[in-house]
Amino acid sequence: MCGIVGYVGPREATDVVVKGLERLEYRGYDSAGIAIIEHGEFQMRRSVGKLINLRRRLHEEPTTGNQGIGHTRWATHGAVTEANAHPHHDESERIVVIQNGIVENYLELKQRLIAEGASFHSQTDTEVIAHLLGRYTSESNDFIAAFGRVMGELRGGNAVVAMDRTQPDLILAARIGNAGAVVIGEGEGESFVASDLPAIVDYTQQMAFLEDGELAILRPSGVEYRTLSGAPVTKTLTTVAWDPVSAAKGGYKHFMQKEIAEQPRTTTDTLRGRLDIEAGRVDLEGLTMTDDELRGVERIYAVACGTAWHACLVTKYFIETLARVPVEVDYGSEFRYRAPVMTKGTLVLALTQSGETVDTLAAMAEAREHGVKSVAIVNAIGSQATRVADGGTIYIHSGPEIAVASTKVFTGMLMAGYLFGLRLAQARGTLTPAEISAHAQALIEIPGKINAILKDISVYDQLADLYHHATDMLYLGRWANAPIALEGALKMKEISYIHAEGYPAGEMKHGPIALIDERMPVICIATQDHVYEKMLSNIEQVIARGGRVIALVNPDDTLVRSKAHHVIEVPHTTPLLSAVLNVIPLQLFSYAMAVRRGADVDQPRNLAKSVTVE
Ligand code: AGP
Repeated sequence: MCGIVGYVGPREATDVVVKGLERLEYRGYDSAGIAIIEHGEFQMRRSVGKLINLRRRLHEEPTTGNQGIGHTRWATHGAVTEANAHPHHDESERIVVIQNGIVENYLELKQRLIAEGASFHSQTDTEVIAHLLGRYTSESNDFIAAFGRVMGELRGGNAVVAMDRTQPDLILAARIGNAGAVVIGEGEGESFVASDLPAIVDYTQQMAFLEDGELAILRPSGVEYRTLSGAPVTKTLTTVAWDPVSAAKGGYKHFMQKEIAEQPRTTTDTLRGRLDIEAGRVDLEGLTMTDDELRGVERIYAVACGTAWHACLVTKYFIETLARVPVEVDYGSEFRYRAPVMTKGTLVLALTQSGETVDTLAAMAEAREHGVKSVAIVNAIGSQATRVADGGTIYIHSGPEIAVASTKVFTGMLMAGYLFGLRLAQARGTLTPAEISAHAQALIEIPGKINAILKDISVYDQLADLYHHATDMLYLGRWANAPIALEGALKMKEISYIHAEGYPAGEMKHGPIALIDERMPVICIATQDHVYEKMLSNIEQVIARGGRVIALVNPDDTLVRSKAHHVIEVPHTTPLLSAVLNVIPLQLFSYAMAVRRGADVDQPRNLAKSVTVE
């Protein structure tokens, strides 16, 4: 959600900034713009829509210069127009600003500025920052102090980057709250700022991450870090070993297709080095909680948003079954507003791909305020959640996920959630080493079974041919597969724009059954476990009302096969781990449907990869 790139050094800034923004396209955006300093003047180019439009604009009216900033905007305040696209400038056009996040007190600031005579050119909250910064800079003639002062007046979560055209070779960046990452890259004779690593990792691997209330002063000669009030801050640089090539499509038509196909490898990577099958032990290197602390856990709140929230729902089944600890699942956006009961034995478990989702971070902050520890299951290395999680981080190790719709990270989260359940069980003695060993064996067989599912994918195109005109779909599952039904429906909604609902199958008769007729495809997860027969009854109920049943079954299934209109085979595994396998066909089906409908698979409308506003 919104991308930021800034550069100062010997290179052509336009190239660095626009290429960086392209690397952030996966975050989702609806307009883009850049400002380059050329002979002491700003050259601004902005455009609505995809970056290709900005590229066209730059082709017609090129910019040149060694210092620039750029932004991809996901509209919050004001429509998707060129005037609302960033950067924004102050009245004297001395300052330009780009921002990620929301200035919560922007109306109050705007009214004050209007009363002082300012006139605004956009409907955005960001423009108030430019006006304030312009005023404070002319008053004090100290751009850096003025920047710190403005940031101190903003309320909300904000990542801000600014330039003053009278100050060559200088870019300022700051972070307040949880507006998403502000990554600083330190190169040889050049400096970079971005809202995510892929934007700048081609140029330098030496990175620093700004914390809440920190400011970075970027010059070609290096970067200085301060607090907003000017006190020096010492930052340790992290060497990021991120191969930019792995972020490329690698022969696939879409990133989503590639990411689905990567799952045998990524699920292996989540397990790598963490299981000792012979000894029946699990070791989670990033988890800093001791065995004593893990034994003291009486209740877990699993918090997340979207797909990660579905992963929490599945993880609840894992943890409760393996470690016998009660788990409550919460939306990040609801958690802190419902005054959750947090006692000594409470643990917050946050699941987040990006580690920057503001609602999930707010839930973690709420835990900290109540003296409750949090553990994070995260994909993005060095992201904010990993720094807030005082009980440690369990990295998923899925590599960059570029498609907005999450696939490989979802299965990674499930694998990591399962590992955490086993680790808790080990500390609490709810499983013997021999039992842990059997679970570990089942886990390590998962990647091979995913591979088997991926072998023949022609069925999804055939189904898409038959059902791509559907306007509504229903997904049903039971027990650990009930959340998989929800996730299947979300995937379908996100990328194909078909209205889809997921339900625990037993709930169908309490309402959704009213929707079923011969136009309704109903996807039923019916692999064998202790609720298989119940699922079979639900399938009968759908068929009795004319619904078209697409069922997920094990290869040796005969009963469901004899009833369903279509079946998709999924290999056997343990009942708990069937959730990891069953989601793969649902991802493939959504993908085939979206392609058949000609949708923008990797960047669905209105969605953002990293949601940094409330
Ligand atoms: C996934 O397909 C979605 N685009 C979205 O629901 C996502 O899972 C959610 O926004 C949470 O993101 P996070 O994992 O980065 O916290």
